[in-house]
Amino acid sequence: MDVPSRVERNELEIRPYREADGASVVALWRRCDLVVAWNDPLQDIDRKLQVQRQLFLVAEHQGQIVGTVMAGYDGHRGWINYLATAPDHQRKGIGRALMSVAEDGLRALGCPKVNLQVRRWNSNAVGFYEHIGYAVEDNVSMGKRLR
Ligand SMILES: CC(C)(COP(=O)(O)OP(=O)(O)OC[C@H]1O[C@@H](n2cnc3c(N)ncnc32)[C@H](O)[C@@H]1OP(=O)(O)O)[C@@H](O)C(=O)NCCC(=O)NCCS
Repeated sequence: MDVPSRVERNELEIRPYREADGASVVALWRRCDLVVAWNDPLQDIDRKLQVQRQLFLVAEHQGQIVGTVMAGYDGHRGWINYLATAPDHQRKGIGRALMSVAEDGLRALGCPKVNLQVRRWNSNAVGFYEHIGYAVEDNVSMGKRLR
């Protein structure tokens, strides 16, 4: 079968996550190296389903989940997490399409700006985000576990 160099937008369904997607989504995140020891992906999904679940999106191509993005608006900034495209579908426009739909959803909630965090070693993701209009900002990223 020919592998298209780009996935046409009309062949890609970007839709909210459904409960039946869980196993496919977690498998995709593992293949994309997004699952880390200190986060349980199924718990992350359960929590997201409690808050703006319409902004947890999957990309479906020919019946397969090939991408995800989890967006959210905190009343000041929008945030992006778990952006992933299946390794065999990367560089075909899926990440850009997911980000565009996520940004539309944030804009519709009144969100004026999107922030996101990238692990320091992930220069591929930085290159991607810069290419679609994001800039590295002069901030230190800080965090504190609440549970
Ligand atoms: C980052 C990621 C989501 C990009 O997804 P993708 O589907 O391959 O990206 P797209 O094909 O939509 O790329 C969109 C544009 O960015 C460009 N691009 C993609 N990766 C790039 C990179 N590393 N450097 C520069 N440009 C890049 C593409 O060429 C394309 O350009 P065009 O639209 O002008 O033709 C994907 O590489 C991925 O899943 N990585 C592993 C998981 C990850 O690191 N997620 C981010 C966590 S913060």
